[in-house]
Amino acid sequence: MRARQSRPSVARVYSYVLGGRDNYGVDKDLGDYFIEDLPGSELLAITNRNAILRAVRVMAEAGIRQIIDMGCGLPASTNVHEVLRLAQSDARVVYVDDDPFVVAHGRALLAVDEAIAVVEADIRDPGSIEKHADVQRLINFDEPVGLLFGITLSLVNDEEDPAGVVQYWIDRIPSGSKIFLTHFRSGTSREAIATANKILEAFGRGRFRTDPEILACFGTLSPDEDGLRPCAQWRPEPSDSEAHQPALTVWEELVVGGMATKP
Ligand SMILES: C[S@@+](CC[C@H](N)C(=O)[O-])C[C@H]1O[C@@H](n2cnc3c(N)ncnc32)[C@H](O)[C@@H]1O
Repeated sequence: MRARQSRPSVARVYSYVLGGRDNYGVDKDLGDYFIEDLPGSELLAITNRNAILRAVRVMAEAGIRQIIDMGCGLPASTNVHEVLRLAQSDARVVYVDDDPFVVAHGRALLAVDEAIAVVEADIRDPGSIEKHADVQRLINFDEPVGLLFGITLSLVNDEEDPAGVVQYWIDRIPSGSKIFLTHFRSGTSREAIATANKILEAFGRGRFRTDPEILACFGTLSPDEDGLRPCAQWRPEPSDSEAHQPALTVWEELVVGGMATKP
């Protein structure tokens, strides 16, 4: 019998839209709403996830061997440490999430060896993450660090200071470190408004920000030469299905990403 859960979780709904199986009926209902009532909206999740994995590849090629994934989500078909280790076999990854369901699944499926940890923590409290024993054990702040904020800052309200969260880390990471940040982008289309309203209604939080507001989330850094752009267009590779589309859909316009490097 399927377990019951009264509220959907952002991690489980996102995972369901990406084809994952770890969800409850309430998550599936919301995921199906996006897939069936807002057809095409699954591209928000798909193009975001693909861009995250490309960003990890870019970090690995730049020599980064350690990543903290802030709001990592449920294990996916391809995970951050798997991509990073294609280029950096001794890579260390700390996955962080505040959802105990994510942490339990992550510990079972992602923490395959001593160099990977899954930490339960709130990204809005970066000090607690920095002090965490697994971060102290696995992350060397004298060596470039990769930081991922995949959609998570969209779930941080203005008064919770998303730029301050990122700046905390900018002030601690050494030169050569990279931050990849993706974010829901506000729009005036029917689709944009319906999606933003549904996310806010379902999860009680969720900010679709303008490009200037998202750029402000980079704190004192700015995106590298690729700039802030729709995830589908952030360094697409020939193998990505979205790379072959002649124009972006209205959905693909709604999630953007950018990478910044600490000088
Ligand atoms: C939409 S999923 C994105 C997963 C992954 N970052 C990606 O882009 O593929 C957002 C994740 O952020 C987590 N999250 C949301 N707010 C958080 C917070 N304040 N602290 C830690 N994790 C958070 C959720 O539990 C969820 O797993």
